[in-house]
Amino acid sequence: MTKPIFGLASNGKKNLLSGSAPSGNLTIGNYIGAIKTWGELQAEFNCYYMVVDLHSITTRQDPKLLRERSLSFYAQYLACGLDPEKNKIFLQSHVSEHAELAWVLNCFTPFGDLTRMTQFKDKSAKHPKNINSGLFTYPVLMAADILLYDAHLVPVGEDQKQHLELTRDIALRFNNEFGETFAFPDPFIGKVGARIMALQEPTRKMDKSDPNANNTIYLLDDPKLITKKCKSAQTDSGSEVRFAEDKPGVANLLTIYSVLSGLTIPQVEEKFVGKMYGHLKVELAELVCATLAPVQARHADLMKNQDYLHSVMQKGADLAAEHAAKTLARVYDKLGFIPKGARK
Ligand code: TYM
Repeated sequence: MTKPIFGLASNGKKNLLSGSAPSGNLTIGNYIGAIKTWGELQAEFNCYYMVVDLHSITTRQDPKLLRERSLSFYAQYLACGLDPEKNKIFLQSHVSEHAELAWVLNCFTPFGDLTRMTQFKDKSAKHPKNINSGLFTYPVLMAADILLYDAHLVPVGEDQKQHLELTRDIALRFNNEFGETFAFPDPFIGKVGARIMALQEPTRKMDKSDPNANNTIYLLDDPKLITKKCKSAQTDSGSEVRFAEDKPGVANLLTIYSVLSGLTIPQVEEKFVGKMYGHLKVELAELVCATLAPVQARHADLMKNQDYLHSVMQKGADLAAEHAAKTLARVYDKLGFIPKGARK
């Protein structure tokens, strides 16, 4: 007999959780690698989608900008099709259990495991003057995010794979010591588009905090700017529109085209047989603009209705907190903490 799945929602669905940090503006990389997939999975799972504001302060943020961005991220999630009536969509800092569970999990995470995290190495190289402890323990907070909601599935881009492996190690270590406490999360990483590359430097990842804005297409870029960025994307020597490892620039543009059009890479190659890189860039720009136009229009509308945004944000946090409180109580109990008010 197969073992029952731990932590299913009351409607029998598995839980799904994901999030993005408001440390820059959302990019087409975030959309393709994560948010688009979140939308596609929302009917099948009991979903938790977060704006992970606590994570964003591992690098210095301007408080006013962070406040504006967090709200705009929230609105962009909805504008990309996430339904706040059917999913729990909330700000991480609105559910205090995240920070509490992170502390506990810190005590179950070997220092050596964190020193191996490539994102820590990359970010410390980028911010040598601010290598703070939060940057180092960031993956433990991420593990807390996931384990608090008994998440069975975590749709992310490829850069988060190592953090998911760490989360699984932490869950297993805790469960082995205290009995089944946490559900075991599986990453969901798309086959195409899990790593969209920077437009001008296609050997590295497109990143929302890239100081060179020409490397990224932001979800809220206007059509003129999108076209300019697509046209100036770095392509490779040669002229044949073909997906190949030694053509990282063209491969990246083909990947974006493929995901947004729903065509396979060979179908996109076929479409551009006998055409030049310039054709691909122009058609890609049109496709990106057409994809983002409704998102931008809906985002603009939502930002005009901040009462609505704040009310669904509050509702999302309240529902998320119910689940989070249960998990944290289970963990505290296993550890031997006396529940508050136990003798009343
Ligand atoms: P963040 O905000 O950097 O990115 C959000 C999501 O977008 C994906 N992504 C990409 N996918 C493809 N190509 C790219 N160029 C690209 N850039 C980003 C990321 O893989 C991610 O899925 N630590 C996380 C946020 C987080 C989280 C969590 C995610 C905190 N707690 C719990 C899942 C579950 C982060 O900084 O993502």
